[in-house]
Amino acid sequence: MEAWFVDWLHLLIRFLHVLTAIAWIGASFYFVWLDNSLETPPQWKTDKGIKGDLWAVHGGGFYEVAKYKNTPEVLPKTLHWFKWEAYSTWLTGMALLIVVFYVGAQSYLIDSTKADLSSWQAIAIGVGSLLLGFGIYEGACRTPLIKHNLAFGLVMLVLVTFMAWALSQVLGDRAAYIHVGALIGTCMAGNVFNTIMPSQRVMVEAAAKGEVPDPYYGNKAKLRSTHNNYATIPVLFIMLSNHFPATYGNEHGWLILGALALVGAWARHFFNLRHHGKIKPMILVSALVAFFAIGWIIKPASPSAQAATSSAELPRVTDVQALTIVGQRCTACHSANPTDSVFTAAPAGVMFDNLDQIKAMKDRILARSVHTHDMPFMNKTAMTDEERELLGRWLAQ
Ligand code: HEC
Repeated sequence: MEAWFVDWLHLLIRFLHVLTAIAWIGASFYFVWLDNSLETPPQWKTDKGIKGDLWAVHGGGFYEVAKYKNTPEVLPKTLHWFKWEAYSTWLTGMALLIVVFYVGAQSYLIDSTKADLSSWQAIAIGVGSLLLGFGIYEGACRTPLIKHNLAFGLVMLVLVTFMAWALSQVLGDRAAYIHVGALIGTCMAGNVFNTIMPSQRVMVEAAAKGEVPDPYYGNKAKLRSTHNNYATIPVLFIMLSNHFPATYGNEHGWLILGALALVGAWARHFFNLRHHGKIKPMILVSALVAFFAIGWIIKPASPSAQAATSSAELPRVTDVQALTIVGQRCTACHSANPTDSVFTAAPAGVMFDNLDQIKAMKDRILARSVHTHDMPFMNKTAMTDEERELLGRWLAQ
């Protein structure tokens, strides 16, 4: 009953998290586009202090947007801030981390083949990594490195990759990935809360007094906003990676995370340049090539090639052998009547109660239990490498 309720709560929070994240990233992309698409305004607008304007048509109406060089003549009564998109994404993300990974620490966080941790120790490592990582990022933003965009970006990439490596030494692979994603998300929301909003408050106060705000604040906010912009694609990839065990489940999952984060930020660069009218298709093409190259490098040997070598030398695996392995290692969860304490309904609706059901899922079983060690979930049922090999051989026969 309790597991059922937690699952239902999980659905609600995940839904809210995706929804708020769409709103946040949507607003972020929109404003970067807006800023980069501004055109020189007519003289009468320049006289009012407007430095750029643009026209748009959307949803059956015309919009005229203007950006002021400093402050408007009079501050409007209503000023929209766009901060709750960020805060609510972070809050729902943390709630999700707690409900899935911390409440279910035994199933989702701990991999006893890596480190024999108690739930509290594993949670402390997770939370500690977020605090430490956030502190390092904020610290780095206060060094001269911040003035060099490319170098700063590369150093952050190395740190993120290192964090993925360090976490994957002690926590389950998925948990390691998701904590790196949560860390980047925390830095992004922190930028909004710690830097962008306070800077804007200073600017609004100055404007209210009829003063010209120090450009230092505007520039500082803009820089953090740019960091966020480049982080969006890597962070989205990490959040979605949980559906792709080939990434986190790889023995060098941390390196794959670093490589794909680089490719994602590089692809984002194309769009940022394009907004300035600089169209460099080679950026996007090279990002795509790199994306497929990574996939090619980590591709497991094809099952038919494996079968060709194995069937010549090794005896056939019988249906009974395969059924026994699946019965011992999978059906605790994947059955019409699961016996696992956490997964009380067959996960993803996948059941392995008979041969037909197993064969129907051949490709997915190969992907998750033979080519990667992603199933059994956190190897809860302690499947051995030999059993994986036998199951793979049987499926390829
Ligand atoms: C402790 C519970 C548990 C055990 C044991 C377990 N699984 Fe899973 N399995 C899950 C969960 C949870 C999901 C859904 C989340 C996901 O897809 O990662 C899942 C999803 C799957 C999927 C469907 C998703 C897809 O990739 O299409 C397959 C296939 C799968 N498991 C195969 C296996 C095999 C094969 C075994 C045994 C060798 C196994 N599982 C053992 C919990 C378990």
